[in-house]
Amino acid sequence: MPRHFLRDDDLTPEEQAAVLDLADELKKQPHGDALAGPKAIAVIFEKNSTRTRFSFEVGIAQLGGHPVIVDGRSMQLGREETIGDTARVLSRYVDLVVWRTFAQSRIEEFARTATVPVVNALTDEFHPCQILADLQTVRERKGTLSGLTLTYLGDAANNMAHSLLLGGVTAGLHVRVAAPEGFHPLPWVLEAVRARAALTGGSAEVFTDPHAAVDGADVVTTDSWTSMGQEGDGKDRVTPFQPYQVNADLLAKTGKDTIVLHDLPAHRGAEITDEVIDGPASAVWDEAENRLHAQKALLVWLLEQRR
Ligand code: CP
Ligand code: NVA
Repeated sequence: MPRHFLRDDDLTPEEQAAVLDLADELKKQPHGDALAGPKAIAVIFEKNSTRTRFSFEVGIAQLGGHPVIVDGRSMQLGREETIGDTARVLSRYVDLVVWRTFAQSRIEEFARTATVPVVNALTDEFHPCQILADLQTVRERKGTLSGLTLTYLGDAANNMAHSLLLGGVTAGLHVRVAAPEGFHPLPWVLEAVRARAALTGGSAEVFTDPHAAVDGADVVTTDSWTSMGQEGDGKDRVTPFQPYQVNADLLAKTGKDTIVLHDLPAHRGAEITDEVIDGPASAVWDEAENRLHAQKALLVWLLEQRR
């Protein structure tokens, strides 16, 4: 059975640390032959992407691999071919599949049939590759992960909130999410988060008060209030979120030398202000760069498990 990375807790705390260590090494030495042969890696997108698309293609090439980047909407998957049949066929061509899709159940169904590792490049529920880059960035800036407090503000029922919770507690972080009522994390995700936190000493807390949530935070982060696929869901995704905007006033309330992350794309003036994203606390551009290093490490690590 191949190892997959479909959600953040697919890596144990020790494995996550090993991937982050490798990411740091690859950042220092970006070119190599770890994917020579070349290993063929399918990278399939059913939603838009800038960072994920470029970082996977460039990263695979830097290690001597061959990326096959495909718009999933142009595949037979977009007509009548089943997920299972697609997984069977792609497993005969490529060494690993990276997929950005909608429901988490789709990538889980794919992974059940695939005979090669499958990596989640974002689903409606999780965005685990982003969290590896986020953790790498926090560790670079703060020198450690375990015991730090990270606060996420915004839609806490989305992929970023869920993955920050699950990946964050895996690293031993105290993760707080703050959101209006109706946008709190899905209960089954919180259950998985608490199970993982019990192993690491990390913790998870859900707030509605943004000021209480940022008090003492080492890291403050946010994400789009409207995720891809939610544009027509009929919910007001502006008014209830205004108090959760990451702006200079809110940031001052941490009382600490806090760093700011954002997975991007940013909606400047909505979930984050220009002043903050372009200001001295922002680690956002390093965070975007680290997608490249963290994903390369993940791919190499997953393929190593098959030897
Ligand atoms: N953060 C992120 O995943 O960006 P893209 O949607 O541009 O890939
Ligand atoms: N929550 C956002 C993340 C984009 C990288 C979305 O799913 O659109």
